[in-house]
Amino acid sequence: MKKFAVVAAMATALLGSTAVHAADVEVIHWWTSGGEQAAVSVFAREFDALGEDKWVDTAIAGGENARAATLQRILGGDAPGAAQFNPGRQYEELISGGMLLDLTPLAESEGWANFIRPASISEACLVDGHWWCVPVNIHSWNWAWASIPAFAKAGVELPTSFDDFLAKAPKLKEAGIIPFAIGGESWQINGAFGVIQTSMLGLADREKILKDKDVELAKSLMPNVFTKFREFKQFADEGSANRNWNDTTNLVVTDQAGIQVMGDWARGEFGVAGKVAGTDYACLALPIDHPTVSTGGDIFLFPKQTDAAVEAAQLKMASMMVNPQVQALFNNAKGSMPIRDDVDMSLADDCMKKGLEIIKDPANIAVDAGRWLSNDTTGQMNDLVAQFWADDSMTVDAAVEQYVNILATAE
Ligand code: GAL
Repeated sequence: MKKFAVVAAMATALLGSTAVHAADVEVIHWWTSGGEQAAVSVFAREFDALGEDKWVDTAIAGGENARAATLQRILGGDAPGAAQFNPGRQYEELISGGMLLDLTPLAESEGWANFIRPASISEACLVDGHWWCVPVNIHSWNWAWASIPAFAKAGVELPTSFDDFLAKAPKLKEAGIIPFAIGGESWQINGAFGVIQTSMLGLADREKILKDKDVELAKSLMPNVFTKFREFKQFADEGSANRNWNDTTNLVVTDQAGIQVMGDWARGEFGVAGKVAGTDYACLALPIDHPTVSTGGDIFLFPKQTDAAVEAAQLKMASMMVNPQVQALFNNAKGSMPIRDDVDMSLADDCMKKGLEIIKDPANIAVDAGRWLSNDTTGQMNDLVAQFWADDSMTVDAAVEQYVNILATAE
């Protein structure tokens, strides 16, 4: 049972049951870095400004931790009012179990199907004709963030490809720069691995492997990906083990590291640090010779509640999140792209504009692997790639054999 805000309870007592009573909506998310906090504060402020209801913030560091806590709370009968997930299969059991507020009437009244794009984003929430969640942004993994001063200090130009980076990395090292910044968490390592996989295989073969589970194709193409990935390890730093993503990004922000392969949520960190794209740092859309955008990002879902006031507040929150003005403010702080085209992006910096240009052509869109892989399969791949990164004694053949087995047994 959700407690009413004190003011609302007093108002109800004074005015009787006819008053519109307020509701607290507890929101679980994992946005704890500087940039993420700046962005989630936009949502909280805009929701509270609607008047009656209140955003109650429950931030849990780490996507895997936050999602596990949310699922535990919902299945334990103590569901929050809203929760963040990545678009895709992470919440398929909540949909099939009928545990979510059906947003379809709201979505149809506001025309979400007409403005939420691209399809790989709307399809993550519009399932079997019902809207079970609200997409709030598009985040792409397919970026490298480069410190312009660090490359200048090493006397080399910004990289024009992964191989060009690997050729220049020794110069960065000689100049006392960490060439390749990466954090030791498995999702970070597997994320960077996935970007290198996309760049080396191209979108079509990547889809045959990850979506169609083409084991034979994986056997022939994945050895080169694992081999290439290991070439980066010599250019990482000793401090990478267990380092979180934003502390790793900070190495590039402060010109201590050359590049980080990371989703464009990293842009939010440059933003809060007052860094300017094109001057202080470069956002390299990957692969550099044929830039793509992966359609990751974030959605919010609204577990069913027993309190009608909370349900009304949930609907107001969902509507607020797709509002064009809120979309502009939130995405510029978050470093992500808006889920609709009719948003004033005059505030957007060169990196955001670059992404918005790339995403216009469907041929440049790499569907995020989370659409195709279950939580369990993703977890197995995260663990395998993290083990391969950490353990130099693990051979490419052994890694490929395990990778192929994961594909072969994926649900
Ligand atoms: C992603 C999420 C982003 C970003 C990142 C790091 O899964 O979509 O919003 O915050 O995690 O926490």
